[in-house]
Amino acid sequence: MSELSKSALDELRAADRAHHIHPYTDHSELHAAGTHLITGAEGCWLTDAEGRRLLDGLAGLWCVNVGYGSKKIADAVNEQIRKLPFYPSFFNSSNEPAIRLAERLAEIAPAGVNHALFSGSGSEANESALKVVRSVQQMRGHPQRTKILTREFAYHGVTLATTSMTGLPACQDPFNLPLPGFLHAPAPHPYAASQVATTELERAAYGKRCIEETRKRIEAEGPDTIAAMFIEPVQGAGGVIVPPDGYLLALRQMARDFGILFVADEVITAFGRLGSWFASCLWSLEPDLITVAKGLTSGYLPMGATLLSDALSDELIGGGYFAHGHTYSGHPTCAAAALANLEEIEERKLIPRVHDDIGPYFVEGLKKFEGHPAVAEVRATGLIGAIELVGGGSSQSSPVGLRAADIAREHGVIVRGLSTAIAMAPPLIISRDEIDTLFEAIGKTLDRL
Ligand SMILES: Cc1ncc(COP(=O)(O)O)c(C=O)c1O
Repeated sequence: MSELSKSALDELRAADRAHHIHPYTDHSELHAAGTHLITGAEGCWLTDAEGRRLLDGLAGLWCVNVGYGSKKIADAVNEQIRKLPFYPSFFNSSNEPAIRLAERLAEIAPAGVNHALFSGSGSEANESALKVVRSVQQMRGHPQRTKILTREFAYHGVTLATTSMTGLPACQDPFNLPLPGFLHAPAPHPYAASQVATTELERAAYGKRCIEETRKRIEAEGPDTIAAMFIEPVQGAGGVIVPPDGYLLALRQMARDFGILFVADEVITAFGRLGSWFASCLWSLEPDLITVAKGLTSGYLPMGATLLSDALSDELIGGGYFAHGHTYSGHPTCAAAALANLEEIEERKLIPRVHDDIGPYFVEGLKKFEGHPAVAEVRATGLIGAIELVGGGSSQSSPVGLRAADIAREHGVIVRGLSTAIAMAPPLIISRDEIDTLFEAIGKTLDRL
């Protein structure tokens, strides 16, 4: 299906309006504007129902790492779905793709992380991590360690607990969250705190202040009441907040000193986005747990995983019956998609490509927007970046980031509109020419703001 006739499109939009609740959507705006229907995709390009080609600057939702149209993944899924579409991994059952995927993840994960607990999404991967953390703290004789520490601007998912971990009031307020026991420390985001930090040194100094605030927060709560700290190495949906020098390792050390488990939420950052299989390796974070989803299958099928360090997996496995798991944990067809996807990332050398070539090209190009009158700040690393826009705090009814994303779409590119910024995270296969096309459209967008 590509271009649709006007009547077919109208009929689909009417059915969508009549029956479909969209995630993270203002339905009155959607119904006024009409659903934007995507009908096909190849490489980094989407086709919509009106036959327009759009460059996908967000890889779907920070996830289509290998780009669209992977024959390898399609073939693997096709083969598996015919052989064994589904069987649970509960009780004593398993299936070959799930076993091979757990094995492969152990090979590419940071040293000492060798076990995978599968689920269906990033939220579920974090929920599983929460259950593992509570269970292990209890086994260690610390049942009072139940509180969870995250940061402002964090995004960890949409369940009650993971929304509570998220540090964005817009996600929490409509549901009367966070739940009790979820604490938030400051994020290393000086611009949001109206602190000017233009040099690396200033950013590092701000990071140190955040570390000190975090320490005070932990001491005020009582360190022995806190089970775990969840950290996105680069905060994504909160605005692509790149950690300053020394910050992440200092947080990691603080967790260790206080007996707090350290969970790296790598739902966006794993599988090449930052030019490494895992961002944890870039900063030598040695997490107790790592959560992944998105790029695990490049979004072709839904899958998440919670990866456990050897110490934790030993405790969990030694701790008797583990009363947790989803119907679709270790889903064979999703695991087959993940295995093919990881193979494709490796065969196409996408990780060194992001690290040495296309990542630096992207970051350099994005930084050129610094100094544009509509731009307050540019943040970028690997193949992820954001432009903080001037007027983010203005009282206009539509946030400036959302307006900018709409304008960018008129210029033929998809970016993520955040309240005060636009974010980009294109497929890892994007070419230099396509990055130029993306930035040309961004330039025109900024000129119109
Ligand atoms: C860092 C991070 N963690 C968790 C999630 C939640 O993942 P999902 O939407 O698959 O539940 C997201 C989603 O964007 C994310 O960016």
